[in-house]
Amino acid sequence: MLGNFTYHNPTKLYFGEDSLQYLKDELKNCGNNILLVYGGGSIKKSGLYDEITAILRDAGKTVAEVSGVMPNPTVDKLNEGVKIARDSKTDFILAVGGGSVCDYSKAVSVSVNCGDDPWEKYYIRFEEPTCDIIPVGCVLTMAGTGSEMNGGAVITNHATKQKIGHVFGDNVMPKFSILNPKYTMTLPKYQMTAGIYDIMNHICEQYFSGDDDNTSDYISEGLMRGLIVASRKAVKDPTDYEARSNIMWTATWALNTLVAKGKSTDWMVHMLGQAVGAYTDATHGMTLAAVSLPYYRYIMKDGVKKFARFAAEVWGISRSGKTDEELAEAGLDAMESWMKELGLVMNISELGADENMIEGIADATIILDGGYKLLDRSDVVKILKTSL
Ligand code: NZQ
Ligand code: ZN
Repeated sequence: MLGNFTYHNPTKLYFGEDSLQYLKDELKNCGNNILLVYGGGSIKKSGLYDEITAILRDAGKTVAEVSGVMPNPTVDKLNEGVKIARDSKTDFILAVGGGSVCDYSKAVSVSVNCGDDPWEKYYIRFEEPTCDIIPVGCVLTMAGTGSEMNGGAVITNHATKQKIGHVFGDNVMPKFSILNPKYTMTLPKYQMTAGIYDIMNHICEQYFSGDDDNTSDYISEGLMRGLIVASRKAVKDPTDYEARSNIMWTATWALNTLVAKGKSTDWMVHMLGQAVGAYTDATHGMTLAAVSLPYYRYIMKDGVKKFARFAAEVWGISRSGKTDEELAEAGLDAMESWMKELGLVMNISELGADENMIEGIADATIILDGGYKLLDRSDVVKILKTSL
């Protein structure tokens, strides 16, 4: 049964090949001082940087920049961006890049006017912003995180070996996001497939929970089926616009707060993956791929009916003659074949983790209790060892 909830998503989306043309209209409501935030250079190489700066110039904006936002943005980089935003009296933050750039921009947005230490306040004490928030807009270049339409902002602290996400409220979500699937076509295959698995896992995290009948699970099954079809096409032909556009749109709906409404959610794959990320700085989607199957096989018996449904409804495996457990196993086997077909990283050792890190990674793993099995630390250690 669906529980009580409020649904409100304030992010306006512009989707498609022509979507950048709407940036100039949005800029009319943005104040004069723009902070342009981007990553390590992909937007300069693709020419998007020149296009965006020309639009900002034509709109008469004063522009300050934060460049070099790294994948898995760090707390030191956050502090640098906050200083630049304060010095330039930023009215509006324009994020141009992937989830890291978008997450980072949201973290800056809640920190510029914050009198406290942002890491301590938002990522250790998990408090909500009490200061003025600088609005953010996003031009997305990578499909995966859903950051373009959610309040998530994940920050890594190398000193303490922690990677923590704070999901802020709708006052922190981007005011608008521009989604042009063409921009994602310059992604290396490794990043494209990592993004695809990130999308898949966002849906799984919200699907593998509860034993009730609810609309969200049916939406999730449709999203997963579409993603599997599009991913196979995109891996075969990365220039397939139809496939890339379906992937981009699915990413947004996988984590824009819709499918989690009215039901419990798991998120343990993300907790394990983030802890691996804190130790290895590996690509987010690959950390999830490497821990997923060991985790799902570990908990499968506790949620066997849902795993059996996953096999039948998402992977099209016939129920006939099979016990729930056999069906559930066949579903996870089908997911494993698909993951290998995509070329995903299937072990954390390939991401730089080793036996000596297991205890530390287990300490860094936040244990949540919305899924089918409440883990304890020894479960986490076992899953991580199987993931090596
Ligand atoms: O830095 P540049 O040069 O732009 O290169 C990036 C980066 O190296 C490159 N890239 C992005 N778009 C490109 C491109 N290269 C060529 N052409 C393009 N069009 O790809 C690399 C990865 O980019 P990144 O932004 O790090 O990837 P992603 O979108 O996967 O974001 C990962 C971050 O988001 C967090 C992750 O933990 C990680 O820190 N997440 C955010 C979530 C949220 N807001 O809800 C949820 C997710 O579960 C996730 O935790
Ligand atoms: Zn994710």
